[in-house]
Amino acid sequence: MAFNDDITDSLFLHILGIITTMTLVVEALNKLYKFCAIHFFDSPVHLVKFGKWAIVTGSTDGIGKAIARELAKRGINIFLISRNLEKLSKVAAEVERAYNVETKILVFDFTNFDHSSGTGDPYNVISQAMKDLDVGIMVNNVGMAAGGANVFHKSQKSGDDQSKSVSNVIHCNASSRVKMMELVLPSMITRKRGLIINISSMSAALVSPILATYAATKRFDDTLSVSLAQEYRKHGIIIQSIQPGFVQTNMTEPLGSSANLFFPTATTYVHHMMKTIGKFDWTNGYWPHTISRWLIMLVPEHITSRAIIRKITELGEKLRT
Ligand SMILES: NC(=O)c1ccc[n+]([C@@H]2O[C@H](COP(=O)([O-])OP(=O)(O)OC[C@H]3O[C@@H](n4cnc5c(N)ncnc54)[C@H](OP(=O)(O)O)[C@@H]3O)[C@@H](O)[C@H]2O)c1
Repeated sequence: MAFNDDITDSLFLHILGIITTMTLVVEALNKLYKFCAIHFFDSPVHLVKFGKWAIVTGSTDGIGKAIARELAKRGINIFLISRNLEKLSKVAAEVERAYNVETKILVFDFTNFDHSSGTGDPYNVISQAMKDLDVGIMVNNVGMAAGGANVFHKSQKSGDDQSKSVSNVIHCNASSRVKMMELVLPSMITRKRGLIINISSMSAALVSPILATYAATKRFDDTLSVSLAQEYRKHGIIIQSIQPGFVQTNMTEPLGSSANLFFPTATTYVHHMMKTIGKFDWTNGYWPHTISRWLIMLVPEHITSRAIIRKITELGEKLRT
């Protein structure tokens, strides 16, 4: 009897071992397939088919400016929106000259969300400006870091300014996604085509002490994007979330590092990112960032959190001195 039980136990363990190994192999192959499919083949999406115009928010610097250039390179007219007229005019002139496309510019501050002033919805100005354009692509790129890279209660300004400062980050990084998609989706549905790219961040997937408000807005962007992707696919609309790791831009300037494989320039990053459009609902946009994410995920969360706190605190000290 005991002998039969031993055989049954060892057979059970044997089968369990085979199933576990097969599951791990299938998972690894699936991950490898997705990695190669996402990063090393061109995007299946023909960008010009969506319409004549693309709107890019936060398009005078960094990732937004690089995206505007990549789209213009394909012959798409660009509607640039940021806060600074001089920078907007300069980027628009550069893009027109380099790629022979039309541009339109609008000064708008995305921290602006307040209806209470009695002046109505601040986004009406964007809706008016785009009403005669055939907008096929919308890039929700604009974003700002939470003030001062510090522990939560110290990173925000005091008194009334505190809620203003937190709400600025939330409105710029998160509310702007909702409002801009509300504006473009109805006409995209009518035309049965459209592409919306939402720039989130790898911080959306990580516990991010010291950058809590920023990371929370980025998780909002990602969740909103991947959820709406399911709702609007049947209308011929692609909604793509992108979660970049660190990219060399004004935002990461305090890091003081020069560009390298894992810290690319915005131009390099966006060149790679464009290949990933329309394949899966979210990607990191750049293969070294996907690898970094895998490696970070292997490390227990309390260790990554401590490392993040150390790094960002150093950064915060640099910002404050
Ligand atoms: N850089 C990174 O490592 C990194 C990593 C992950 C995710 N991201 C995300 O990528 C996006 C772009 O970041 P970036 O690094 O390229 O930033 P950036 O270099 O600081 O550029 C930000 C752009 O947005 C505009 N902008 C900033 N605040 C604005 C506001 N309140 N209203 C209107 N326009 C505003 C800026 O122009 P004006 O100042 O002239 O208005 C500029 O054109 C953000 O959503 C960010 O969260 C960046």
